[in-house]
Amino acid sequence: MKELNISISIRICQEEELSADDRELLEAARRTTYHSYAPYSHFSVGAAARLVNGVLITGSNQENAAYPSGLCAERTTLFYANSQYPDQAVDTLAIAARNESGEFLVKPIPPCGACRQVMLETEQRFRHPMRILLFGTEGIYEIKGAGSLLPLSFDSSAMK
Ligand code: THU
Repeated sequence: MKELNISISIRICQEEELSADDRELLEAARRTTYHSYAPYSHFSVGAAARLVNGVLITGSNQENAAYPSGLCAERTTLFYANSQYPDQAVDTLAIAARNESGEFLVKPIPPCGACRQVMLETEQRFRHPMRILLFGTEGIYEIKGAGSLLPLSFDSSAMK
């Protein structure tokens, strides 16, 4: 029997350790949580993507009474970015969330599995690593690429 160990590397930073561009992106993600439509979960998520051409795109979670019809902030943002700028890779994606008390999460927000899958494909289709910043009030996780968030991932190469 063999064992496969997969490790990922996460940098835990304080905001002041980040570049001005990253701080601006995090602020946009935080601000966008206030655009969330979350009458069911009362969990407000905001995402902000910086494209390689410098354009900044934001999106929030949008819920629906037919629950699965809603969409997470990350996918709202990435699908909008790719619809508007189909030839621009996403350089960095920042994510922030507030709980039902309206407070930003203390621990960095972990994106759901479906969003990780979409992040991975976004990264792969442009052959450009997508940095991810997960905001928590106690610190920010900086992850080098979407692949790190989804080890042993399913992608189009598995179907060949
Ligand atoms: N949500 C996001 O927008 N992003 C995530 O990564 C996790 C969950 C949303 C979906 C739903 O509107 C609410 O948060 C509760 O799950």
